[in-house]
Amino acid sequence: MGRVVVVSNRVAVPRRGEPAAGGLAVALKDVLKSSGGLWFGWSGETRKDGGPETRRVRAGGIDYATIDLNEQDQKGFYAGYSNGTLWPLFHFRLGLMEYDRKDAEAYRRVNREFAQALLPLLGPQDTVWIHDYQLIPMAAELRALGAKQRIGFFLHIPFPPFAVVSALPDAERLLRDLLAYDLVGVQTKSDLSGLLNCFAEGLGLFPDAMGGVRGEVAGQQRRTQLSAHPIGIDTRGFATLARKAAYGPETQRLLNSMGDRSLIVGAERLDYTKGLPHRMRGFGALLANFPEHLNRVTYLQVAARSRNEVATYRDLKRELDSLAGRINGDYAEFDWTPVRYVARAVARDTLAGFYRAARVGLVTPLRDGMNLVAKEYVAAQDPEDPGVLILSQFAGAAEAMDGALLVNPLDAEAMAVQLDRALKMPLGERKERWEGMMRGLEDQTAMRWAENFLTELEEMPLPEQDMMWS
Ligand code: F6P
Repeated sequence: MGRVVVVSNRVAVPRRGEPAAGGLAVALKDVLKSSGGLWFGWSGETRKDGGPETRRVRAGGIDYATIDLNEQDQKGFYAGYSNGTLWPLFHFRLGLMEYDRKDAEAYRRVNREFAQALLPLLGPQDTVWIHDYQLIPMAAELRALGAKQRIGFFLHIPFPPFAVVSALPDAERLLRDLLAYDLVGVQTKSDLSGLLNCFAEGLGLFPDAMGGVRGEVAGQQRRTQLSAHPIGIDTRGFATLARKAAYGPETQRLLNSMGDRSLIVGAERLDYTKGLPHRMRGFGALLANFPEHLNRVTYLQVAARSRNEVATYRDLKRELDSLAGRINGDYAEFDWTPVRYVARAVARDTLAGFYRAARVGLVTPLRDGMNLVAKEYVAAQDPEDPGVLILSQFAGAAEAMDGALLVNPLDAEAMAVQLDRALKMPLGERKERWEGMMRGLEDQTAMRWAENFLTELEEMPLPEQDMMWS
């Protein structure tokens, strides 16, 4: 048995004094620890010139290897192609998508550099697991260098159909890159149908009876399995965190400041896919259409600053600043601020306590691969007095969380109706909805997601074995 080698753009190298990693990083670390594995990726630093140097550290039974990226390439790779082109495209936002051939080249170069730096660290029996849209071509680059190991890919964000993906000038090449993997995993059934549609319409490839397609990359023929693996959280761990945090000073301060008002909470990166302005408008519509909630409810929105080097993210910050100001200006009383808007990151355990204290979790992205905040909000609840999750129908999480109140985030009036319903929901119904969702979360943890993906990957025949059966 070889090791598991995880590759992602960001690497959760443990650093002294930094908060503990989130559920996904914890699950990956557990898998890596049990296989004596390696986590490889970008160091977070840039270099002015010269080739990359691989830095290695060992911590908590895991090897970490990182490289610095060339300053210019990093811009084109990260702010340019990954977050200016692919991110809006994969979130169905063609109007926000930018395309610059130089950025596309930087994206390729960085993927090649990742492959070149990783190859010497690989053993013949290792299983490589590459994560997310920043690194789609990495397996093709590894194959071009002769890598024969099993390589899997997981896309954490949505996979749209070809009608959307075809807007990308490099669509065909990017889809062909996926054929270098033995397994391509996506979050939901809807993402899987997007992926299958892209192969059919973009490359004329149709799945076999087992859901795989065949192709050739760098002279190697292989069958690529395509499947949905919905990601979960460390449900028990988060529930414990929330239970403890509820007695912590931050949650107590929050509760003291609320009086007997109800709390609505939202927390995410400040990203246009999260539908934050739409959510503020929905809350504004609650106050306008259901005046009985005036001075009875407070909406706390934590929006951690993100990707500030991309102009659309800076514009969004300005829009939110003004919306929060407008709602507060229109409705506040001298002793009540309807919207509490915190545009910075809040520690994970503090958030867990806030989720537990909130009567409503408002999670309304315009599009989201899965959305782990929705799952964490549910895991954080007090079983004796759980809150209500309001969830966008466009989050991957909506496929399985049928105890949530689903909304279309574009419809502010409908969001107001669901907010009113959630705030008035009797305990019996809250419990019933929560218990169903919690059972699902206890079953579908982050650890099980990682194990299921790796089991499927490790069962894939290598191309030589596959030839014997075909
Ligand atoms: O899930 C999408 C994702 O881009 C991850 O790949 C990434 O770790 C996270 O969101 C945060 O984004 P960024 O690395 O651009 O800050």
